[in-house]
Amino acid sequence: MSVRTSIAKITTISILLSLFSGVALAAGDPAAGQAQAITCAACHGQDGATAIDPSYPNLAGQNEVYLTRQLQMFQSGQRDVALMSAQLIGKSEQDLADLGAYYASLPGKHSQAQGSDEDIAAAERLYKGGDMSKGVAACSSCHGPNGAGNAQAGFPAISGQSVGYTVTQLTDYREGRRGTNDAYGSMMRGVASGLTDGQIAILADYISGLH
Ligand code: HEC
Ligand code: HEC
Repeated sequence: MSVRTSIAKITTISILLSLFSGVALAAGDPAAGQAQAITCAACHGQDGATAIDPSYPNLAGQNEVYLTRQLQMFQSGQRDVALMSAQLIGKSEQDLADLGAYYASLPGKHSQAQGSDEDIAAAERLYKGGDMSKGVAACSSCHGPNGAGNAQAGFPAISGQSVGYTVTQLTDYREGRRGTNDAYGSMMRGVASGLTDGQIAILADYISGLH
């Protein structure tokens, strides 16, 4: 093989690789996901948005990339939650992608913030402007002004969750308890490390009312 053909081959391979890296996750089939979701409804609700316990997350309206990635992390134990990992035993990559696609296809819900006007205004300043003195980046830059997330980047929607779930997750990122992969998890650990308990509480309330 001449030098020129091998260079041509390497170029073709790298173009192919760069194309595939944009679609690293298999596309899911919502109908196939729905067929598997009967067991999930026991905890996350029939509509994926009425979890049976306030500390359980809502899944409806969440983006597919984020959902599928979290399912992969529960299955591998990287996000180490026995309750969830037990649901995914024996499921293939395609099953996880189908479940992600199904829940992403359902409409999300939102509620109303309960805090005082002062707390809501302080939370909004943090959410939209961050706190530079403590290295807290503006939440809105990744999760959007309305908490809808960024579906393409796989940044999660955060509106529509209960206050309790959001408080637990932010605290767990801060304390290094929520297992994630480095690329995505380090973004949130960095942000959460500068937040006080009080800031987490008012942010979680404010976010629950975003839509
Ligand atoms: C026995 C109750 C239970 C069942 C059944 C269950 N889950 Fe969960 N799920 C949970 C809990 C609790 C969490 C939150 C874990 C944590 O604390 O981080 C969770 C978290 C999740 C998350 C992460 C959401 C986020 O915003 O990060 C996804 C996705 C998920 N579950 C999907 C599913 C799917 C799909 C099924 C069915 C195959 C299922 N769950 C069945 C209890 C359950
Ligand atoms: C640089 C981008 C970025 C910024 C800024 C950011 N986040 Fe995140 N956030 C992410 C990513 C990525 C994840 C998913 C990480 C993972 O896989 O665990 C996430 C996850 C979360 C979750 C967990 C969602 C769930 O369903 O479990 C919450 C809650 C959250 N962020 C709230 C916030 C708040 C509040 C702020 C501002 C104080 C903020 N984020 C700032 C990127 C960001």
